[in-house]
Amino acid sequence: MYIVGIDIGTSAAKTAAYDLEGNTVAQSSYQYPLYQPHNGWAEQDPHDWWDAVCFTLRDVTSKIDSSQIAGVGFSGQMHGLVMLDKDDRVIRPAIIWCDGRTAEECDEINEIVGRDSLIDITASLALSGFTASKIRWVMKNEPDNYKKCRRILLPKDYIRFRLGGDYFTDASDASGMQLLDIRKRQWSDTVCDKLGIDISLLSQVRESPEAVSSVGSEAARLTGLKEGTILAAGAGDNAAAAVGTGVIYDGKAFTTIGTSGVVYKHQKKFAMDRETRIHTFCSPVPGEYHTMGVTQAAGLSLQWFRKNFAPDSEYSELDHKAARIGIGSDRLIYLPYLMGERTPHLDPFCRGVFFGLSAVHSYEHMYRAVLEGVGFSLLDAYEIVSGVGTRINGMSICGGGAKSPLWRQMVADMFNIGVADMSKGGGACLGAAILGGVAGGAYPDLYTACHSTIKEGDICMPDAERNAEYRAFYRIYKDIYMSLKDDFRKLASV
Ligand code: XUL
Repeated sequence: MYIVGIDIGTSAAKTAAYDLEGNTVAQSSYQYPLYQPHNGWAEQDPHDWWDAVCFTLRDVTSKIDSSQIAGVGFSGQMHGLVMLDKDDRVIRPAIIWCDGRTAEECDEINEIVGRDSLIDITASLALSGFTASKIRWVMKNEPDNYKKCRRILLPKDYIRFRLGGDYFTDASDASGMQLLDIRKRQWSDTVCDKLGIDISLLSQVRESPEAVSSVGSEAARLTGLKEGTILAAGAGDNAAAAVGTGVIYDGKAFTTIGTSGVVYKHQKKFAMDRETRIHTFCSPVPGEYHTMGVTQAAGLSLQWFRKNFAPDSEYSELDHKAARIGIGSDRLIYLPYLMGERTPHLDPFCRGVFFGLSAVHSYEHMYRAVLEGVGFSLLDAYEIVSGVGTRINGMSICGGGAKSPLWRQMVADMFNIGVADMSKGGGACLGAAILGGVAGGAYPDLYTACHSTIKEGDICMPDAERNAEYRAFYRIYKDIYMSLKDDFRKLASV
């Protein structure tokens, strides 16, 4: 028997088949472009996701007996707006999570719904990353497109729709639309009515491990899956990574460094930050919650840096050079705000900064400063997540960035906590597959599934001296944003 996970990331789609003990049997990934038509905008073509999913599924199913797949689960970049017309055709490119064009719409949403009421219902002030403001932007700026819209889907839900033909979402991903009543796990009539969004455009909300549909005949032909294979509701990528790292118990936490960076903690009971510097969303564990802080440009900062300044070097080579430079990158500090920032600033206008550049610095110092700056941003998230709800009682790390031993050690030193390395197997794709396995009946519940599949990673221990050194730079890092806050706005308005 196998379980299969599909993860719709920002840089690529990844598909993997695992045996019931969580060992990878076959995997495949396929990259697609990110379009940035203007500074601060971010779009992708849902057809690119679908083509990548077909390719990776064909690749994976060619290596296994697909009649032995118990179920398929999904993980996906959150918040992206996919709009379909009456014939289920994609109306415009998806406006994705890191798009920051909707500052005006966010002000409007806070005003129309009322700040307190919005926080009470959706656990957040309006955020440009979230889907509601993207919908309002299309209503206002592309009324013809909005008029044609019959269906609004999130990225992974569009893929499941292409495979199974039904419109569903899950509570964890739906939480990031800012249209869900987080405590009730249902669409909020109040928010949707006030924003003029017809609830019938939205999908039915289910819990992540539920079986919601099955593979249709045309999709079976295109992917190599068997017709009738069970499809789970799945989860937003961070919630799926929580399942794939076993973070399904109160107070367990993980950090992921993908395109975005996240510090995520499981909460059995609802808890939130009233200043909404971090998010409180539904968990993939039915009826439970999680809090998380988000760095918009984590791996994205590193990719950007390498592409523009060191295109001929491998990451491992750059890491090696950066490891020889001391903490603080010889007094160079990077702010990773290439796509604005969420935690802790909720600021779509801020932008990246190298502070303290001197003629002694080389691109190697700058590379190390990028690693450290992303680490400081994750530390911002860690500090707030730690202070809300249940105390953190375990931390692991996953995502592409966690493959760097240097970055892993930085996170452990900066947070001053032991960090279990889950970069080799655990993460969003395994989490998606586990959800598929539970939906398909291969396991009786999520706990048994995680227990059977997830292997504990080696612990990376923190060092108190290094922690103190990082802290000195972290204090300056925090001050730089405060000093530049107004100037970021001025720059955006020129
Ligand atoms: C979470 C978020 C990102 C995306 C892309 O709120 O926006 O983590 O899910 O990975």
